[in-house]
Amino acid sequence: MQHLITPSDFTNEEILNLFDDARMFKDLQSNLFLQGKLVVTLFFENSTRTRSSFEIAAKRLGAEVVSLDVGTSSRSKGETIFDTVANINAMKPDAIIIRHSECGLPGSLVEHVNCPILNAGDGKNAHPTQALLDLFTISEHFNANIEGKKIAIVGDVKTSRVASSNLELLPRFGIEPIIVAPDHFKSEDSAFRQVTFLNEIINEVDIVMSLRTQLERHSEIYYTSMQEYAKDYCITKDSFQDRDILLLHPGPVNRNIDIDDEMLLDPRNKILEQVSNGVAIRMAVLKKLLK
Ligand code: CP
Repeated sequence: MQHLITPSDFTNEEILNLFDDARMFKDLQSNLFLQGKLVVTLFFENSTRTRSSFEIAAKRLGAEVVSLDVGTSSRSKGETIFDTVANINAMKPDAIIIRHSECGLPGSLVEHVNCPILNAGDGKNAHPTQALLDLFTISEHFNANIEGKKIAIVGDVKTSRVASSNLELLPRFGIEPIIVAPDHFKSEDSAFRQVTFLNEIINEVDIVMSLRTQLERHSEIYYTSMQEYAKDYCITKDSFQDRDILLLHPGPVNRNIDIDDEMLLDPRNKILEQVSNGVAIRMAVLKKLLK
């Protein structure tokens, strides 16, 4: 049985096959590929995009979806996460999709269930479907000519599971990441080039991925207000000038902190394309793991 815990669970060939399916699903029309299947979603951290995208993907494929409301679940009565998952597993779902703040938790569940586990984000560790949809969006934009492209990943790379999964996945397809961050948000053990300001490398890059500052994952306070951070890291028209660069962000965007209002209206911004592609990619992933 195959699970999806990090992007390394899929070979490059499997990912290219997934992209073929995602292209087929791009119109997001309903079909019956997973008719009769049941998917359970367990979101122990907040989500707008990933949760609704997985649920829409499963329903578009004809599957049924049960979403545990963790706020009203028996977790509040002291049940452990392992017992919660064991009980859900005993109801024989065809897949469990889980988001949790603990790094490694989804991976630790795979030995204890009888269905695929899909990691919808575990702490700062991994967010594999986000990286897949990011790569798919880039690949579609450049008509699959992505070898040698460079991407600036801007902001809180240190605690970002989106950055972590993209740093694992994109280089496998020939895309070179450059981390752009203040020292306290840089990766501590990155194999990749790290710079402090976007203007140092803006003339080299084809793609900019802005990140939200994960205040919930930091114990130290680096800024008295996020406007202080925005002075150097908010993406504006001035930072892009007239260059033909793709602008990505996994969401949620903190407006005028990560990206300013004007750039959010700029045609180089492909954030909503990422969101649509996210449903298509998750349809392809569910079809692969549940069929
Ligand atoms: N990209 C992403 O994970 O967004 P959500 O937190 O809204 O799911």
